[in-house]
Amino acid sequence: SSNESAAGIAHVYRGTFVHATYHTAVEILEDRLLGVDTEGKIAFIGSGKEVDRLSQKWGFEAFAVTQLGQHEFFMPGMVDTHIHASQYSYAGTALDMPLLQWLNMYTFPVEACYKDLEFARNVYTHVVKRTLRNGTTTACYFATIHTDASLLLGQIANDFGQRALVGKVCMDTNNFIPHYKETPEESEGETNRWVINSYPLVRPVVTPRFAPSCSAALLGYLGEIAHNNDLHIQSHISETKEEVNLVKELFPDYDSYTDVYHRHNLLTDKTVLAHGCHLTDGELKLFRETGASIAHCPNSNISLCSGMLDVRRVLNHKVKLGLGTDVAGGYSPSMLDAVRRTLDTSKALTIQDTQYHTLTFEEVFRLATLGGSQALSLDENTGNFEVGKDFDALRVNTDAAGGPIDLINHGEGSFFMSLFPLSIPPSGDDRNIVEVYVAGKRVVPFVEGP
Ligand code: GUN
Ligand code: FE
Repeated sequence: SSNESAAGIAHVYRGTFVHATYHTAVEILEDRLLGVDTEGKIAFIGSGKEVDRLSQKWGFEAFAVTQLGQHEFFMPGMVDTHIHASQYSYAGTALDMPLLQWLNMYTFPVEACYKDLEFARNVYTHVVKRTLRNGTTTACYFATIHTDASLLLGQIANDFGQRALVGKVCMDTNNFIPHYKETPEESEGETNRWVINSYPLVRPVVTPRFAPSCSAALLGYLGEIAHNNDLHIQSHISETKEEVNLVKELFPDYDSYTDVYHRHNLLTDKTVLAHGCHLTDGELKLFRETGASIAHCPNSNISLCSGMLDVRRVLNHKVKLGLGTDVAGGYSPSMLDAVRRTLDTSKALTIQDTQYHTLTFEEVFRLATLGGSQALSLDENTGNFEVGKDFDALRVNTDAAGGPIDLINHGEGSFFMSLFPLSIPPSGDDRNIVEVYVAGKRVVPFVEGP
């Protein structure tokens, strides 16, 4: 047999594949055969009817093909572009204050606990397992200011097989809990220690918390480290109006909140900034020009009464945008929830303005998968089912939890049948996600230790 792949074929799957492409928000590929090589990359995608020819060409046994069930399909793994792993311990509580008070009252005291590595190990293990089980194959995490606990988060994500960007948080201003901060030099030194770490699935991210908790000196150091090492950068921006006003006070010589980051070399095509609810057109233009992206965190935006991001406006500015859970400002660690909340916010904007161009479900499906990969500049390797990309995928069974669409047979070829694979994000839940794959390896269900 002639095997064209440098690596051999490890697995072949046959069934329906649903994904987003650069041209189409949702493409449904029925009866396809998808081969994954021993390096976890998609080696070929062909017609299921050509199984004999493809098995000869690629050198696999036709009987070894995994056939999906009637109620099953594969979709790309979801990308959480903004989540605080360290805040998972209190997700679903403490949402009774606006952002700046919430940070002082609940968040900083909890994050200070990550000095204790056993505390960190416990929470970080839980958040990685939970998000993987909920279908997050790539997570862009904030940890805390503690380098050793942040290293542990990277190790845990890698061990469970989750692709992750991990940020050791940098902050040298904290008026409320004075012991939960660093000096600018400590923060620079620890970030330099942080960014040299590496696990195959994990990349370090330079992480100034947000402008109000960073001095100009610290922002300058971090911009330089990111530039010198070609690293990802993450932070928060324009989440609430109160915060925007505070930044105006703290940085009076800058044109805008975005300009504060821009002038410290923190806006690049590997930058992702969370929220952006109150950005001006001029600021969005700066995002477009620099290639920086926005992590839309609708659960958090509503839960902390921060604002409603107009996603349509961001997309019209051709700014890259992904979805984020923003645990624990957002109370749900599930990207399926982020999909629903994105639709809800878009519909709330439509209630306010009936002319509003509401986001479609298909568009939001793309934002949760390929859009997130683009926002994190990882779409060369992830985000959809294209030959050469890593196989990051969810095996979905619409019948697993008594899926609502399956309970009612609308008939073959009907409108509902064509939408049936899409029923998972709006009305299904994580019980419908029966297997999760990252880089070709099945990581859910978990393989329990001895
Ligand atoms: N801005 C600065 N820090 C935080 C945080 O931890 N959560 C949210 N939602 N916004 C922030
Ligand atoms: Fe956040």
